[in-house]
Amino acid sequence: MSLFITFEGGEGCGKSVQAKTLYRRLLQSGIPALLTHEPGGTSLGNRISRCLKWTQNTDISPLTELLLFNASRAQLIDEVIQPNLKGGKTVICDRYADSTTAYQSYGRGLDLPTVKAINYAATGGLKADLTVLLDISAEEGLARKRARRQDRFEQEDIAFHQRVRKGYLKMAASEPKRWLVVDASQSRRKIAQIIWQRVSQLLSRQGD
Ligand code: TMP
Repeated sequence: MSLFITFEGGEGCGKSVQAKTLYRRLLQSGIPALLTHEPGGTSLGNRISRCLKWTQNTDISPLTELLLFNASRAQLIDEVIQPNLKGGKTVICDRYADSTTAYQSYGRGLDLPTVKAINYAATGGLKADLTVLLDISAEEGLARKRARRQDRFEQEDIAFHQRVRKGYLKMAASEPKRWLVVDASQSRRKIAQIIWQRVSQLLSRQGD
């Protein structure tokens, strides 16, 4: 049996660093693992991702955005996630369907049941065994990213990012078994330790 672990959070929360750290630790422990990310992770998905993040001078409607993220996701599941889970690897995905609920529903304001239905269609109901939420205030997260060139999402106003954070916390509270909420203002080392503790628990339970 293999685990499916996803990382979530707002801008500048540090999830990509933590996803990589966990991936390395699994490999060092002799556990076959694969690290991927959304949007993208496949050749087609990377092209969709560029459109979503860097399109300028053309408005992308919220519904189009919802469908494009899910198109990229459906391809990633088919090409990468499912075959690797079936092959016995623990798959780590940097962002997954909860990002769409947080950004396109709580952030953009799309109807929640519609977003959930489209997510379900794209994922075929595949859910993570564990979702790590790196929680940080919108202000602190964006301040960490200020130096870099900003994509369409980073350019959104603070209220948008605050809604995204609230959405994440709401989702985590409604499914506490699946979510691990970690205060992302702690040191990288401390955060990695908290995550590893939970992952090792899950791995040892699988061995029972
Ligand atoms: P990242 O590579 O910085 O994680 O960028 C992806 C951006 O896309 C980030 O701002 C969050 C956003 N996003 C959505 O709005 N919906 C989604 O479903 C996903 C996967 C990402």
